[in-house]
Amino acid sequence: MALPMPAFKGLVFLLALIPLLWLVVRIVTGSLGPDPGQEVTEALGLAAFQLLIVTLGMTPLSRLFKWQGWIRVRRMLGLFAFFYACLHLMAFLQFILGWTDLWATFTRRPYIILGSLAFLLLLPMAITSTRGMMQRLGKRWKPLHRLVYPAVLLAWLHFLWQSRSDITEMLVYGLVIAFLLALRVRWFGWRSLIPLRKPGA
Ligand code: HEM
Repeated sequence: MALPMPAFKGLVFLLALIPLLWLVVRIVTGSLGPDPGQEVTEALGLAAFQLLIVTLGMTPLSRLFKWQGWIRVRRMLGLFAFFYACLHLMAFLQFILGWTDLWATFTRRPYIILGSLAFLLLLPMAITSTRGMMQRLGKRWKPLHRLVYPAVLLAWLHFLWQSRSDITEMLVYGLVIAFLLALRVRWFGWRSLIPLRKPGA
Protein backbone atom coordinates (compact mmCIF):
# COMPACT_ATOMS: atom_id res chain seq x y z
CA MET A 1 0.00 0.00 0.00
CA ALA A 2 1.73 3.17 -1.23
CA LEU A 3 -0.27 5.80 0.69
CA PRO A 4 1.68 7.23 3.66
CA MET A 5 -0.01 6.72 7.03
CA PRO A 6 -0.90 10.38 7.82
CA ALA A 7 -2.51 10.76 4.37
CA PHE A 8 -4.43 7.49 4.80
CA LYS A 9 -5.65 8.56 8.25
CA GLY A 10 -6.71 11.96 6.87
CA LEU A 11 -8.58 10.27 4.02
CA VAL A 12 -10.42 7.90 6.39
CA PHE A 13 -11.30 10.86 8.63
CA LEU A 14 -12.82 12.76 5.70
CA LEU A 15 -14.71 9.69 4.46
CA ALA A 16 -16.17 9.13 7.94
CA LEU A 17 -17.39 12.74 7.97
CA ILE A 18 -19.34 12.32 4.72
CA PRO A 19 -22.64 11.17 6.34
CA LEU A 20 -22.64 14.27 8.56
CA LEU A 21 -21.71 16.65 5.73
CA TRP A 22 -24.35 15.09 3.47
CA LEU A 23 -26.95 15.55 6.21
CA VAL A 24 -25.96 19.22 6.60
CA VAL A 25 -26.33 19.69 2.83
CA ARG A 26 -29.80 18.12 2.94
CA ILE A 27 -30.82 20.31 5.89
CA VAL A 28 -29.51 23.50 4.24
CA THR A 29 -31.19 22.71 0.92
CA GLY A 30 -34.41 21.67 2.66
CA SER A 31 -34.47 18.27 0.94
CA LEU A 32 -35.23 16.11 3.96
CA GLY A 33 -38.83 15.37 3.01
CA PRO A 34 -42.04 15.76 5.00
CA ASP A 35 -40.60 14.60 8.36
CA PRO A 36 -37.10 16.11 8.70
CA GLY A 37 -36.67 15.10 12.38
CA GLN A 38 -37.33 11.44 11.60
CA GLU A 39 -35.06 11.62 8.56
CA VAL A 40 -32.17 13.15 10.55
CA THR A 41 -32.55 10.51 13.30
CA GLU A 42 -32.55 7.67 10.78
CA ALA A 43 -29.59 9.00 8.78
CA LEU A 44 -27.48 9.34 11.94
CA GLY A 45 -28.47 5.86 13.18
CA LEU A 46 -27.56 4.35 9.82
CA ALA A 47 -24.19 6.12 9.83
CA ALA A 48 -23.43 4.79 13.35
CA PHE A 49 -24.38 1.26 12.33
CA GLN A 50 -22.47 1.28 9.05
CA LEU A 51 -19.33 2.67 10.69
CA LEU A 52 -19.52 0.01 13.38
CA ILE A 53 -19.53 -2.66 10.66
CA VAL A 54 -16.68 -0.94 8.81
CA THR A 55 -14.72 -0.93 12.11
CA LEU A 56 -15.23 -4.71 12.35
CA GLY A 57 -13.90 -5.06 8.82
CA MET A 58 -10.48 -3.56 9.64
CA THR A 59 -8.89 -6.72 11.07
CA PRO A 60 -9.91 -8.88 8.07
CA LEU A 61 -8.62 -6.19 5.69
CA SER A 62 -5.28 -6.01 7.46
CA ARG A 63 -4.90 -9.79 7.20
CA LEU A 64 -5.97 -9.81 3.57
CA PHE A 65 -3.69 -6.98 2.44
CA LYS A 66 -0.98 -7.70 5.02
CA TRP A 67 -0.96 -4.00 5.94
CA GLN A 68 -1.18 -2.59 9.46
CA GLY A 69 -2.67 0.71 8.25
CA TRP A 70 -6.19 -0.73 8.53
CA ILE A 71 -5.61 -1.49 12.21
CA ARG A 72 -4.24 2.01 12.78
CA VAL A 73 -7.54 3.60 11.68
CA ARG A 74 -9.76 1.11 13.56
CA ARG A 75 -9.95 3.17 16.75
CA MET A 76 -10.83 6.35 14.83
CA LEU A 77 -13.62 4.52 12.98
CA GLY A 78 -15.00 3.09 16.22
CA LEU A 79 -15.04 6.57 17.75
CA PHE A 80 -16.83 7.93 14.69
CA ALA A 81 -19.46 5.19 15.10
CA PHE A 82 -19.91 6.29 18.71
CA PHE A 83 -20.05 9.96 17.67
CA TYR A 84 -22.87 9.23 15.20
CA ALA A 85 -24.65 7.09 17.82
CA CYS A 86 -24.55 10.07 20.24
CA LEU A 87 -25.97 12.39 17.57
CA HIS A 88 -28.61 9.75 16.70
CA LEU A 89 -29.64 9.54 20.35
CA MET A 90 -29.80 13.34 20.69
CA ALA A 91 -31.81 13.66 17.47
CA PHE A 92 -34.22 10.99 18.75
CA LEU A 93 -34.76 12.91 22.01
CA GLN A 94 -34.97 16.28 20.28
CA PHE A 95 -37.19 15.42 17.32
CA ILE A 96 -39.11 12.25 18.19
CA LEU A 97 -39.88 11.65 21.85
CA GLY A 98 -38.67 14.69 23.78
CA TRP A 99 -36.44 15.04 26.84
CA THR A 100 -39.10 14.47 29.49
CA ASP A 101 -39.82 11.22 31.35
CA LEU A 102 -36.68 9.54 30.01
CA TRP A 103 -37.25 6.20 31.76
CA ALA A 104 -40.60 5.73 30.00
CA THR A 105 -39.06 6.90 26.73
CA PHE A 106 -36.31 4.29 26.82
CA THR A 107 -38.33 1.36 28.10
CA ARG A 108 -41.47 1.80 26.03
CA ARG A 109 -40.64 -0.15 22.90
CA PRO A 110 -38.43 -3.23 22.43
CA TYR A 111 -36.47 -1.70 19.53
CA ILE A 112 -35.62 1.33 21.70
CA ILE A 113 -34.44 -0.98 24.51
CA LEU A 114 -32.21 -2.82 22.02
CA GLY A 115 -30.78 0.47 20.68
CA SER A 116 -30.18 1.70 24.23
CA LEU A 117 -28.35 -1.52 25.14
CA ALA A 118 -26.17 -1.19 22.04
CA PHE A 119 -25.39 2.37 23.04
CA LEU A 120 -24.56 1.34 26.62
CA LEU A 121 -22.06 -1.22 25.27
CA LEU A 122 -20.42 1.37 23.02
CA LEU A 123 -19.99 3.78 25.93
CA PRO A 124 -17.24 1.95 27.92
CA MET A 125 -15.33 1.31 24.69
CA ALA A 126 -15.42 5.00 23.76
CA ILE A 127 -14.34 6.04 27.28
CA THR A 128 -11.40 3.60 27.28
CA SER A 129 -10.24 4.30 23.74
CA THR A 130 -7.49 6.75 24.72
CA ARG A 131 -3.84 5.67 24.82
CA GLY A 132 -3.72 6.38 28.56
CA MET A 133 -6.69 4.09 29.23
CA MET A 134 -5.20 1.42 26.96
CA GLN A 135 -2.03 1.45 29.06
CA ARG A 136 -3.93 1.55 32.35
CA LEU A 137 -6.15 -1.41 31.42
CA GLY A 138 -3.29 -3.43 29.93
CA LYS A 139 -4.40 -6.99 29.15
CA ARG A 140 -7.98 -6.19 30.17
CA TRP A 141 -8.38 -3.69 27.32
CA LYS A 142 -8.90 -6.25 24.56
CA PRO A 143 -11.61 -8.32 26.32
CA LEU A 144 -13.45 -5.09 27.14
CA HIS A 145 -13.36 -3.98 23.51
CA ARG A 146 -14.87 -7.29 22.43
CA LEU A 147 -18.12 -5.66 23.55
CA VAL A 148 -18.21 -4.47 19.96
CA TYR A 149 -19.60 -7.90 18.91
CA PRO A 150 -22.73 -7.89 21.09
CA ALA A 151 -23.06 -4.15 20.36
CA VAL A 152 -23.22 -4.67 16.59
CA LEU A 153 -25.69 -7.55 16.99
CA LEU A 154 -27.94 -5.45 19.25
CA ALA A 155 -27.74 -2.53 16.80
CA TRP A 156 -28.71 -4.90 13.99
CA LEU A 157 -31.70 -6.24 15.98
CA HIS A 158 -32.67 -2.63 16.79
CA PHE A 159 -32.58 -1.85 13.05
CA LEU A 160 -34.49 -5.02 12.12
CA TRP A 161 -37.18 -4.55 14.78
CA GLN A 162 -38.15 -1.04 13.75
CA SER A 163 -38.35 -1.84 10.04
CA ARG A 164 -41.83 -1.50 8.64
CA SER A 165 -41.93 -3.57 5.48
CA ASP A 166 -38.94 -4.46 3.30
CA ILE A 167 -36.24 -6.21 5.32
CA THR A 168 -33.89 -6.94 2.40
CA GLU A 169 -31.50 -4.18 3.49
CA MET A 170 -31.32 -5.54 7.06
CA LEU A 171 -30.72 -9.06 5.76
CA VAL A 172 -27.77 -7.84 3.69
CA TYR A 173 -26.30 -6.11 6.78
CA GLY A 174 -26.95 -9.28 8.79
CA LEU A 175 -25.05 -11.37 6.24
CA VAL A 176 -22.10 -8.96 6.23
CA ILE A 177 -21.95 -9.07 10.06
CA ALA A 178 -22.24 -12.88 10.07
CA PHE A 179 -19.43 -13.12 7.51
CA LEU A 180 -17.13 -10.84 9.55
CA LEU A 181 -17.82 -12.77 12.76
CA ALA A 182 -17.31 -16.10 10.98
CA LEU A 183 -13.92 -14.91 9.71
CA ARG A 184 -12.98 -14.04 13.29
CA VAL A 185 -14.03 -17.45 14.57
CA ARG A 186 -12.03 -19.14 11.81
CA TRP A 187 -8.86 -17.15 12.51
CA PHE A 188 -8.94 -16.70 16.28
CA GLY A 189 -11.49 -19.24 17.56
CA TRP A 190 -14.98 -18.63 18.88
CA ARG A 191 -13.63 -17.60 22.30
CA SER A 192 -12.24 -14.46 20.66
CA LEU A 193 -15.84 -13.25 20.38
CA ILE A 194 -16.55 -13.42 24.12
CA PRO A 195 -16.30 -10.01 25.78
CA LEU A 196 -14.86 -9.41 29.25
CA ARG A 197 -13.25 -12.89 29.36
CA LYS A 198 -10.10 -12.90 31.52
CA PRO A 199 -6.92 -12.99 29.42
CA GLY A 200 -5.73 -16.60 29.12
CA ALA A 201 -8.97 -18.01 30.58
C1 HEM B 1 -30.39 5.01 23.17
C2 HEM B 1 -30.11 4.54 22.03
C3 HEM B 1 -30.96 4.60 20.78
C4 HEM B 1 -32.23 5.08 20.54
C5 HEM B 1 -33.17 5.72 21.53
C6 HEM B 1 -32.51 4.90 19.14
C7 HEM B 1 -33.68 5.27 18.50
C8 HEM B 1 -33.96 5.09 17.16
C9 HEM B 1 -35.14 5.54 16.46
C10 HEM B 1 -36.30 6.29 17.10
C11 HEM B 1 -35.05 5.17 15.18
C12 HEM B 1 -36.03 5.47 14.06
C13 HEM B 1 -37.12 4.48 14.04
C14 HEM B 1 -38.20 4.83 13.06
O1 HEM B 1 -37.89 4.94 11.87
O2 HEM B 1 -39.31 5.01 13.51
C15 HEM B 1 -33.80 4.47 15.04
C16 HEM B 1 -33.36 3.92 13.87
C17 HEM B 1 -32.10 3.36 13.72
N1 HEM B 1 -31.11 3.27 14.67
FE1 HEM B 1 -31.28 3.78 16.61
N2 HEM B 1 -31.44 4.28 18.55
C18 HEM B 1 -30.46 4.09 19.53
C19 HEM B 1 -29.23 3.55 19.39
C20 HEM B 1 -28.70 3.14 18.19
C21 HEM B 1 -27.37 2.65 18.00
C22 HEM B 1 -26.31 2.52 19.11
C23 HEM B 1 -27.25 2.34 16.67
C24 HEM B 1 -26.07 1.81 15.91
C25 HEM B 1 -24.85 1.71 16.33
C26 HEM B 1 -28.51 2.63 16.03
C27 HEM B 1 -28.81 2.42 14.70
C28 HEM B 1 -30.01 2.68 14.10
C29 HEM B 1 -30.30 2.37 12.72
C30 HEM B 1 -29.37 1.70 11.73
C31 HEM B 1 -31.62 2.80 12.48
C32 HEM B 1 -32.40 2.67 11.18
C33 HEM B 1 -32.13 3.85 10.28
C34 HEM B 1 -32.94 3.74 9.00
O3 HEM B 1 -34.11 3.43 9.06
O4 HEM B 1 -32.35 4.01 7.95
N3 HEM B 1 -29.37 3.11 16.99
N4 HEM B 1 -33.15 4.44 16.26
